[in-house]
Amino acid sequence: MKRLIILLLFLTPFLAYTQPSEDLPSDFLNQEFHKGRRQALRDKLPSNSVAVFFANPTRNRSNDVDFVYHQDPNFYYLTGYKEPDAVLLIFKDKQTAKNGAQYDEIIFVQPRNANAEMWTGRRLGDEGVKTKLGLNQAFNNTEFKKYNIDFTKFDAILFHDFNNDVRDNPKDSADLYSLIEQFKQKVNYPSKESTLNVARESKKNNLNTKELPVLMGMLRGVKTKEELELVRKAVSISGMAQREVMKAIKPGMSEREIQGIHEYIFKKYEAEDVGYPSIVGAGHNGCILHYIENYKPTVANTELILMDLGAEYHGYTADVTRTIPISGKFSVEQRQIYDLVLKAQEEAMKACKPGITTQELSTITRNVINRGLVELGIIKTENEKHLYYPHGCCHHIGLDVHDPIPQGKLQENMIITVEPGIYIPENANCDKRWWGIAVRIEDDCLITKDGFELLSSSAPRKAEEIEALMKEPSALDDFELPEIK
Ligand code: GLY
Ligand code: MN
Ligand code: MN
Repeated sequence: MKRLIILLLFLTPFLAYTQPSEDLPSDFLNQEFHKGRRQALRDKLPSNSVAVFFANPTRNRSNDVDFVYHQDPNFYYLTGYKEPDAVLLIFKDKQTAKNGAQYDEIIFVQPRNANAEMWTGRRLGDEGVKTKLGLNQAFNNTEFKKYNIDFTKFDAILFHDFNNDVRDNPKDSADLYSLIEQFKQKVNYPSKESTLNVARESKKNNLNTKELPVLMGMLRGVKTKEELELVRKAVSISGMAQREVMKAIKPGMSEREIQGIHEYIFKKYEAEDVGYPSIVGAGHNGCILHYIENYKPTVANTELILMDLGAEYHGYTADVTRTIPISGKFSVEQRQIYDLVLKAQEEAMKACKPGITTQELSTITRNVINRGLVELGIIKTENEKHLYYPHGCCHHIGLDVHDPIPQGKLQENMIITVEPGIYIPENANCDKRWWGIAVRIEDDCLITKDGFELLSSSAPRKAEEIEALMKEPSALDDFELPEIK
């Protein structure tokens, strides 16, 4: 018995931290990944420097309800920590603590608090961060104020300038607002009105807000094999949702119901969230590039529906768009526009490989689209200025749907979207048979050694493949709910 009690006493602190994880999926990025990313950043830091990162702010939704918390992607990438009110410092060189310990990274996190955890969920606390995330120098954020390091000794203090609005919680002297204020004091951050001038001021001091975004862009741009797995999963889930919706969609459905089917399938595959607000626009709503109201109650038989949605799986997001005819068959004009967008996409994909830039891919799509619009009589000359294709064709994806842009040309293991589109709003300066046609086709492409891999291939792209799939039965065909009066 005595032995059992001793064993339990010994195990209790571990149980407290290991128990919750049993509920968690096992395919999250592990602490070795995050540690490796911190080292990769350290390797890139200039000599005698420190990089400082802050957690994302919490955002108020209304009254006493906040938006679901989402960690700053750089912070998550480097730590795996998903809670607010934290600050991370990564040093180029070893530092010596008062007790003589050597360290080259340190993190301050929100403390454990039984009452808060009962209401809003588990916290790791400093001990949890050590055991679960492998950051050995972890302290409660209340300690940051006292953290007495001489910042003047560094040649450079790298951080992202404070462009986020951060609310002060007057009851918490170690919330994000206070951590930022304390940091500003420690490093002699210039006065309030010169916030935007830190970069300029940095000639006179050691503050540097320019270099960290560039370094993080390069690091996050090239995906590791662990990241690739998660992006693959997010994209596959999104592609499967597009497939299922193609079967399930019927005239008379609302944009929101169609959104709901996509998002139900995301959750069914255990995606925790969407990577960005879902865009489901029928007819001319598709001309609004980031249309997220999704309010149209009845989608008409004659309309196209543009569906741009991405599942977020363990932090990584897909970005996939399909545009389909609600009736199951493209009209002649819809098909002409659709095939032109597809041609632009395929021409760009042919050029997708290391060494090309996303601007060059955009130009390829723009040339195809302009030529096609002339052939269809929608514009008069290829050089005519128009707003039918008002965006670029590519961006990187990862922890952000619009991931930081790495400098230079595409490299192996970068992941980009290829997403040309044509949007013809009502009253556009062309024959009105084209009005209300909006098409975007968006796929996610992994750049390989000598080409690319189409990650979103599970969702058909060719018009005839879409029409064929739309004829197939759906598991949701018989799903009916009683009317609510
Ligand atoms: N879903 C936003 C975009 O395609 O960039
Ligand atoms: Mn996109
Ligand atoms: Mn998109």
